[in-house]
Amino acid sequence: MKDGQPKAIQLADYQAPAYTTKKTELFFDIRDGETQVTSNLSVVRQTDGGSSLELAGEDLELVSVMVDGRELGSNEFLKDSESLTLLGLDEAHQIQIVTKICPEENTALEGLYRSGGMYCTQCEAEGFRKITYYQDRPDVLSKFTTTIIADGERYPNLLSNGNLIAASKTADGRSQVTWEDPFPKPSYLFALVAGDLAVLEDEFVTCSGRKVTLQIFSEPHNIEQCDYAMDVLKRSMKWDEERFGREYDLDIFMIVAVEDFNMGAMENKGLNVFNTSCVLASPDTATDETYERVEAVVAHEYFHNWSGNRVTCRDWFQLSLKEGFTVFRDAEFSSDMNSRAVKRIEDVGVMRAIQFAEDASPLAHPVRPSSYLEISNFYTVTIYEKGAEVVRMYQTLLGEENFRKATDVYFDRHDGTAATTDDFAQAMSEVGNIDLTQFKRWYEQAGTPHLSVKEDFIDGQLTLSIQQSCPDTPSQVGKKPFHMPILMGLVGASGDSIDLAGLAIESAAAFQVRDAGQSLLLEIREETTEIKFSKLNTDDAKPVVSFLREFSAPVKVSHERSDSELAFLVENDRDGFVRWDALQTLWVKHFDDRQTLVGADPIQTFAQVAKAAIDLTDAEDQLFAGTMLLVPNENYLFEQISGFEVDSLLDAREAALDAAAAQHSDVWAQLCERYKPTGAYAPTASGMAQRGLYSVAFALHARTLSGNALEKALSERYFSADNLSDRRSALGIITRNPLLTSDFRNDILEHFFQQWQDQALVIDLWFNLQAQSPLYDIDALNKLASHPSFDLKNPNRARSVYGVFAMLNNRRFHALDGSGYDFMGRAVARLDELNPQIASRLATPLARFGRYDSKRQGLMRGVLENLSRRENLSKDLYEIVSKSLA
Ligand code: TRP
Ligand code: ZN
Repeated sequence: MKDGQPKAIQLADYQAPAYTTKKTELFFDIRDGETQVTSNLSVVRQTDGGSSLELAGEDLELVSVMVDGRELGSNEFLKDSESLTLLGLDEAHQIQIVTKICPEENTALEGLYRSGGMYCTQCEAEGFRKITYYQDRPDVLSKFTTTIIADGERYPNLLSNGNLIAASKTADGRSQVTWEDPFPKPSYLFALVAGDLAVLEDEFVTCSGRKVTLQIFSEPHNIEQCDYAMDVLKRSMKWDEERFGREYDLDIFMIVAVEDFNMGAMENKGLNVFNTSCVLASPDTATDETYERVEAVVAHEYFHNWSGNRVTCRDWFQLSLKEGFTVFRDAEFSSDMNSRAVKRIEDVGVMRAIQFAEDASPLAHPVRPSSYLEISNFYTVTIYEKGAEVVRMYQTLLGEENFRKATDVYFDRHDGTAATTDDFAQAMSEVGNIDLTQFKRWYEQAGTPHLSVKEDFIDGQLTLSIQQSCPDTPSQVGKKPFHMPILMGLVGASGDSIDLAGLAIESAAAFQVRDAGQSLLLEIREETTEIKFSKLNTDDAKPVVSFLREFSAPVKVSHERSDSELAFLVENDRDGFVRWDALQTLWVKHFDDRQTLVGADPIQTFAQVAKAAIDLTDAEDQLFAGTMLLVPNENYLFEQISGFEVDSLLDAREAALDAAAAQHSDVWAQLCERYKPTGAYAPTASGMAQRGLYSVAFALHARTLSGNALEKALSERYFSADNLSDRRSALGIITRNPLLTSDFRNDILEHFFQQWQDQALVIDLWFNLQAQSPLYDIDALNKLASHPSFDLKNPNRARSVYGVFAMLNNRRFHALDGSGYDFMGRAVARLDELNPQIASRLATPLARFGRYDSKRQGLMRGVLENLSRRENLSKDLYEIVSKSLA
């Protein structure tokens, strides 16, 4: 570690600062190799907590400090490597600080840095302190004015938050502009961009009739790929007005696309900065998944304008207040735009494969953590996705109408301030008239709760007993029961839902019958809950229980029931999630050596779904069928099955796909015929549905081929494709099918590279598909990582090789000789010197060692131990490594 052991920041130590910064005036003088930042701060005392003002600052060269016009001598302030403290202050002061920074050398991509030909900033969470000394904490809200001076020839676009209020030339011919943001904001929402950019411009008229200018900036060669993002932006603005009553508040909204970016995008006030991967899209450069991601991320960042910017977080422990809520909001948007059932299934897939794994690992943490070393490490699936599940549970408990009212209360009450998850819960509790004290354990307790469900059916009376528990997690032993909403229904032998309004229902727990008797909401609070349904028709067989509809709580369920009931639910339930879930359960049982399937076979059920898909005409039904036909991915199986052996499980999965391909070859051929590409590419629900089904069917069909027939089918599909989705689906098979010759594989890869070498995001995919191929041994991977187009400094590129390898190439990452772990360990070490945020993220797959066999555990720990012994480990990586080994 750099300066000894870093100190943990504790939620329990939170204190409002003695002073706040009311106004912030910034001057940036940007020159090659050196940028000078002058800040004029109006600070005032806000509590009687003392007379000193602590300003955070890192990697800054301090030029001067002035208080009320008088320059301080170096004995009049305290300075160390992380802060500058002014002492003996009165009620109010005007402070001026001048610092110098070097954006050109900033490879951490935090603070002000260069990407391609432009300068840009990333300040969340604590990047502003790398620009100037400041109260860089989210509970200090300030009005910002920003002046930028730069060479106007090379940097004609000089952007910052808010409205442009002045533009002129300096005496020596440089450009000078001033931006003013009328909304007080914390420093993490500050942004600045200087570049020579192209712009796509449009307009949105808000519900109250105000005109808003919309601009998307990118490097000129990418501007043709911005139309889809613009379309999404306008749809998001409209949707947020209609669904949440939220109107945009400035006269201008800008997005800038940047090639080097640590995350997806950033919601800076009025000036969102995006990773190109989350904004650019065209048929030849984006797959259907990319279009979906652009839709989700553009909406997400826009929605932050209310959930995050107008109401921000008091401290970083409250991160999920804005992230969980905003993910919930973007998920609802995507559901309304496309298919609600499919979106829900995709999100549950991520929860189960990735969030549950995090919750079961040494890095498990609550939705509201109580301590951290480096906050950048807490932008996790737990904060984002589990946080969104918590918000969804409020909506389920309160009902949509009251939930909406409660969000209005929350926004109104906390507008212009920094709030907490308790404030959010308070608004929900008041409007819903519901005690949420116990519910708040979802914020405090880490780990995935487990429900064990038992059924008892005698004399036409069905009793469900539900037992809840939650495993211990690091530093949390002995969890208390959660308050959770369980949506359920009963399905009769005919396949129709039984009308619950006609039954006698008894439970000590609260419940409500909903959806005109079709479903029921049960509120579990105790460790054990029983619910009894009587007055069922006694002639009938036991109804089939449809449990946890819509995945109404982020829990694991083990439900004692027959496999034929699962197959029945796949066919008959009214809830898309339950249908999918039942099929996943069959698959998991099929792959789990410790379980035996009786009277059901997922391959048969799967083939039935496929057969039925031939006749579908509705796009949503087709999208749903395409989703049902994805066999659970490897990471999903790793999470759902315990005590597995990596290679055997991967072999079993391949064997199941081969069996499905061979046993039902006619179905795949028919599906290919039915859904073969027609007409030009469009990222519409029906286009995506058809490509999805074709792609699944083609992949299975290809498994029945070999030799020339296989090569012919693949070349045809690859060369006839007029879009990246179809091309990718061919290339995905080409990179991993062991029956192909390496000449054939390499020729097509070379062709692809030649054709798309100018499109960075397409070349990322080229690296990605190879890095995830089990055919690539460590030599091949090293070759990939030393390819002239590989660049460790570009996060997208680094992720497309190393991130993809560790997450998706399970065969090679978990190689028993330890070569895969070693390959990752070396990459993480090198990256840590350039970009600690990315390094620590790439290290997290190594922290999941607990679920593998002891040999692999030992090897993974060994790599982590080597990392922990390195000198100059970043705080980011130190936290991941030390917590993993604790
Ligand atoms: N707030 C961003 C979001 O909407 C997250 C983010 C963007 C971020 N860039 C970052 C977080 C850099 C940490 C570091 O999700
Ligand atoms: Zn966000």
